[in-house]
Amino acid sequence: MDVISVIRTKRDRGELTADQIDWVIDAYTRGEVAHEQMSSLAMAIYLNGMNRAEIARWTAAMIASGERMDFSSLSRPTADKHSTGGVGDKITLPLAPLVAACGAAVPQLSGRGLGHTGGTLDKLEAIPGWRAQLSNAEMLDVLRDVGSVICAAGDGLAPADKKLYALRDVTGTVEAIPLIASSIMSKKIAEGTGSLVLDVKVGSGAFMKNIEDARELAATMVELGTDHGVRTAALLTDMATPLGRTAGNALEVRESVEVLAGGGPRDVVELTLALAREMLDAAGLPDADPAKALADGSAMDHWRRMIRAQGGDPDAALPVAREQHVVTAAESGTLTTLDAYAVGLAAWRLGAGRARKEDPVQAGAGVELHAKPGDTVTAGRPLLTLHTDTPEKFGYALEALDGAVRIGPSDAAFTATPVVLERIG
Ligand code: URA
Repeated sequence: MDVISVIRTKRDRGELTADQIDWVIDAYTRGEVAHEQMSSLAMAIYLNGMNRAEIARWTAAMIASGERMDFSSLSRPTADKHSTGGVGDKITLPLAPLVAACGAAVPQLSGRGLGHTGGTLDKLEAIPGWRAQLSNAEMLDVLRDVGSVICAAGDGLAPADKKLYALRDVTGTVEAIPLIASSIMSKKIAEGTGSLVLDVKVGSGAFMKNIEDARELAATMVELGTDHGVRTAALLTDMATPLGRTAGNALEVRESVEVLAGGGPRDVVELTLALAREMLDAAGLPDADPAKALADGSAMDHWRRMIRAQGGDPDAALPVAREQHVVTAAESGTLTTLDAYAVGLAAWRLGAGRARKEDPVQAGAGVELHAKPGDTVTAGRPLLTLHTDTPEKFGYALEALDGAVRIGPSDAAFTATPVVLERIG
């Protein structure tokens, strides 16, 4: 087998054989295939696609590149959720302890933010003392004791994807449906969850800008999960505007705690409950009542235990950025647009995200929204508050917000977009 013939096959719109796929993934993981060769193949896949058989084999080869975890010793059914990434998407924080409070075990392997979308681990690291890096044995202990754990994937899980994802990130090949689907599903299948709910984001703040692409991505991932014996369903959800009223690490933890306390923004509560119901259904617990677990404090109790089990102090004050800048409404009327991508980019420029994997993030940085689309706003009143430790970044963040806000007449008809757009699976 030689890599040039594999690249040529895909460059010329051919179908890769199972042997070609197994070989190239293994050889790349071992360092025998060079980054520039894999980069060329990734671009050929980006341009010419892969059929379902190729995607299935590619995913299986990435799973086989590393270890598989096993939660079969747990007495509870396992359920996991994966979001394709959005702005203000803090749902994992209230969702994992909520689903645990309802009787499932939630082994939530999460990532860090890159680009304009935030990362769950960066958010939780805003909590003093909290630790993302757990050994497999520690992860299993937290799952057994608390019922949910949110931590970083170990190096042994789908190492081919770790290498390939980092390469795609710097070669303009992230947004390819076969590569996204196989990347996400290889990690989730290797993780060993019994059931999985996918939150596929659609809109300006998501990878998938239109519903057709989101449907194709969701259907591909549901098929991959089902073929590997994981009960999988997907919700397509709106990412035209940020979720909730905050984008930024500590700001989002604070909002998640509000949800766990029985309050919080309507859209965050609605999506948390919709995903919880899907997870509990898929885990074989359809009679559990997540709304009750939010209202009666049991989800909050699980959150506090989960944070403590990972070294964090749930009562500690969260970091606050040193400087704030308030953006006011330019006119009075109905807020019709507040663009998710622009808000995500502004939060990133304020220091909430990173440009390179090794960059630090500011725990307190981000954007607070004082109004959401459909709300009435008044000229001169606060619309957004920008938070940062590095005020020289305000100008750069404000540039990102140029054109992100539209205000219509007060009597303009406004139809709110539902949070959950479709279900696939
Ligand atoms: N998240 C992943 O894990 N992989 C991708 O390719 C895109 C988003």
